[in-house]
Amino acid sequence: MTCSKRNTRQLLIITGVLILVIYLPLNLFYLLFIAPRQVERHDESLGNKPKTEDRFAVQITDITSDEYGNVKVVLSLGIKELLGYLDGNNINKGEVTGNPPPDNVQFVINSPNVCRNSSKVKYIVYVHSSPENLHKRNLLRQTWISRTLFAERVIERVFLMGRSSKPGVQAKIQAEANTYGDVVQGDFEDNYKNLTLKALMGLKWVSVYCTQAEFAIKADDDAFVNIFNLLHLLEQHRGKKKLLACALWRDNSMPILRDPSKCSKWCVKFNEFPGRRYFPKYCAGLTFVFSTDLVQLLYNTSRTTSFFWIDDVYVTGILPMKVKNMEYISLIKNFTLKQDEALAQLKDANKSMTNLFVHVKKSEDFLPMWQLLLKRLTIDDVKLLGTDVIERSPSMKQLLSREAKKNQ
Ligand SMILES: *[C@@H]1O[C@H](CO)[C@@H](O)[C@H](O)[C@H]1NC(C)=O
Ligand SMILES: *[C@@H]1O[C@H](CO)[C@@H](O)[C@H](O)[C@H]1NC(C)=O
Ligand SMILES: *[C@@H]1O[C@H](CO)[C@@H](O)[C@H](O)[C@H]1NC(C)=O
Ligand SMILES: *[C@@H]1O[C@H](CO)[C@@H](O)[C@H](O)[C@H]1NC(C)=O
Ligand SMILES: *[C@@H]1O[C@H](CO)[C@@H](O)[C@H](O)[C@H]1NC(C)=O
Repeated sequence: MTCSKRNTRQLLIITGVLILVIYLPLNLFYLLFIAPRQVERHDESLGNKPKTEDRFAVQITDITSDEYGNVKVVLSLGIKELLGYLDGNNINKGEVTGNPPPDNVQFVINSPNVCRNSSKVKYIVYVHSSPENLHKRNLLRQTWISRTLFAERVIERVFLMGRSSKPGVQAKIQAEANTYGDVVQGDFEDNYKNLTLKALMGLKWVSVYCTQAEFAIKADDDAFVNIFNLLHLLEQHRGKKKLLACALWRDNSMPILRDPSKCSKWCVKFNEFPGRRYFPKYCAGLTFVFSTDLVQLLYNTSRTTSFFWIDDVYVTGILPMKVKNMEYISLIKNFTLKQDEALAQLKDANKSMTNLFVHVKKSEDFLPMWQLLLKRLTIDDVKLLGTDVIERSPSMKQLLSREAKKNQ
């Protein structure tokens, strides 16, 4: 709602009238009748209670005046939500609208033989990366998705990215692709608004080039994953269909960020996802695991589902709503954004390692964390490792020779 008026006196009158006639009564009504119901529905176990300001239906978003004294008052009015409540509807039933995402992502660089050449592949890890993040990719190549980590190459990997707008980057990526053979680059600009294109490129890539894998593991390039415990967990779920294992945000627990002063680049416009204050259930994007059949189903589903630009919400929230009989494994307790706590847990041999997925902001900690993890492997884990990992680790060699003596 926008009003323009010439002088401040009129502004005062208008604002006063707006506040008395619209702002106060509607918000009072909202606070008394609607907000309490909303809080009840909120899943408190996740600890992100709605903030007070989320509870206002009407907000004065902006008051400005230009150099000629014209005044502009912008009110944001959640009128659809209010009407929805008056109708007795649940406001969190809204859906994305508009066209499905485009299906014509071309590969600038592809690595089609990653799985074809590997008869043992059981897990395909596809990493969302950015063209400039060579350093982060190399940390992953040396650690939890190293090709030589396991004696049998059960894990394969690709890094997904778009095009960079910076000069000189493309030549470096081409060189990297030639060296490692694990780069998949789509013909779209690599930026956060195009993340869903990257995510769909990942689903499509797995659906076309790696269907023999049993599980597809999506990771961000700053994800530290306890791959040993993750594989133990997945081992218990082999053969299951339509499986999604992840740190799951429950239905209507994650607020949709709308207020430009708070959400910066992650703001969602009302028409991008109308009729909702909270997202449907979806997975924390850092790392999640699909049974490979589900990857194909979800890709198919995207062909007929309206686009939404936040990739983890789209791929693990919006698309799965259309798939019947999915099985979720919630790993919310095994996911952390607190790198220092994860590091402390790895260091303390008396603490069990409960974190599967750790978001690493300080990449200088990545290798030390990996070394700590390797030191704590069981003899059964060590037996699965490739020889060059063992060669580099005195403690593993010790463990193995002790085991050998025991068996003599
Ligand atoms: C995979 O196999 C193909 C054909 O057998 C070969 O040309 C290619 O270099 C191999 N790629 C990798 C990454 O091993
Ligand atoms: C990617 O994002 C940019 C900027 O948001 C946009 O202009 C462009 O159309 C998007 N899509 C592709 C395919 O690059
Ligand atoms: C995907 O959709 C097409 C066309 O609707 C269908 O023929 C195909 O079987 C579907 N694939 C999967 C894996 O559901
Ligand atoms: C772990 O427990 C042992 C025995 O209870 C104790 O001696 C040791 O100091 C503990 N280590 C740490 C790092 O707390
Ligand atoms: C996940 O975390 C819970 C609680 O901290 C722990 O009991 C469980 O063993 C962890 N699971 C895995 C697979 O690490």
